[in-house]
Amino acid sequence: MKIFLDTANIGELRYAMNAGILDGCTTNPSLIKAEVDRAKKDGKKMNLEQHIEEICRTLGKGRSVSLEVFSTDAENMIKEGEFLYKRFNPVAGNVCVKIPVNPSTDGKDNTEGLRAIKTLADKGIPVNVTLIMTPEQALLAAKAGAKIVSPFAGRIDDYIRTTSGVKFNKDDYFPAHGDGHDDKGIVSGVDLIKRIVEIFKNYNIKTEVLGGSIRNARQAREVALAGADIATMPFHVLEEMLKHEKTKEGTVKFSQDTVDEYKNVFSKRV
Ligand code: E4P
Repeated sequence: MKIFLDTANIGELRYAMNAGILDGCTTNPSLIKAEVDRAKKDGKKMNLEQHIEEICRTLGKGRSVSLEVFSTDAENMIKEGEFLYKRFNPVAGNVCVKIPVNPSTDGKDNTEGLRAIKTLADKGIPVNVTLIMTPEQALLAAKAGAKIVSPFAGRIDDYIRTTSGVKFNKDDYFPAHGDGHDDKGIVSGVDLIKRIVEIFKNYNIKTEVLGGSIRNARQAREVALAGADIATMPFHVLEEMLKHEKTKEGTVKFSQDTVDEYKNVFSKRV
C-alpha cells in the first residue's frame, strides 16, 4: 500500500520524505487554508504559488501530489484542472488534479463532476476523484476515467455516529465492522473502502483506491487490510503508526544492557 500524507505543510512532507516511506501527498482547500492561516499567525508573507511548487519539488518525480479545484461547475473545474496541471506539473511531473465526484449542492445537475473528470482524463491529465462516500460514486468516477478515487473513511464514520446520536471525538476509533448502525448498508468508512475494492476487482477496474480521511493508526491498518492501493493520512497518524509502549520499553532495556565489551566491538568498525 502506498502511503501519502494529507497535508500542505512542507516541514511534515520533508520529515516523511527523510524517513524514506512517502509515496505522495494530498491537499485540499482546507489544508491549503491551514498553511495560509499558519503563515498569517506567524506574521510571515506567504507566496502560495511558490509554496505549491515547493510541495511538488519536495515530493519529486514518481510521488504523486494531488491539487484540488475550487469551482463547482464542470466548465470552471476543467479550466482550473488544466491550469493546475499546466502550471505545476512541469516542476516535477507529479501533479494529479483533484475533482469532487458531485459538487452539486442543489441537486440540479449531479453530473458536473463526472463531466470534468472525463474531459480532463481524455486530455491525459491524471484525476483523483474526491469526496467519495458510496461505492456507486466510486464506480461512476472510475467509468469517467479517474486515476484515483478517494473514499473518505473518517467522514463516513462521523456520519454514521452523528446520525445515530453517538458522541465522539474526531480521532476516536470506530470499528470497521460498525456499531449496529449504517449508511445505506455501509457500516463504516473501512467497509466503504472494502466494498469499492471488491467492485473494482469484479470488473478488473484499474483505478486506484485511496483511503482518505484517516483518523488513527488502527484505521490505517484496517484500510490496508481492506486492500486499498493508497492511504492518505495526517502527520499525527503517521507518527502514531510508529509508536508502541513495548517498543519504547525494549529500546530502553537494550540501551541499558549494552555493555562496554559490546560497544568495543564497534570501535573496530571501518
Ligand atoms: C483526502 O484526500 C482528504 O484530503 C482528507 O483525507 C480529508 O480528511 P478529513 O475528513 O480528516 O478532513
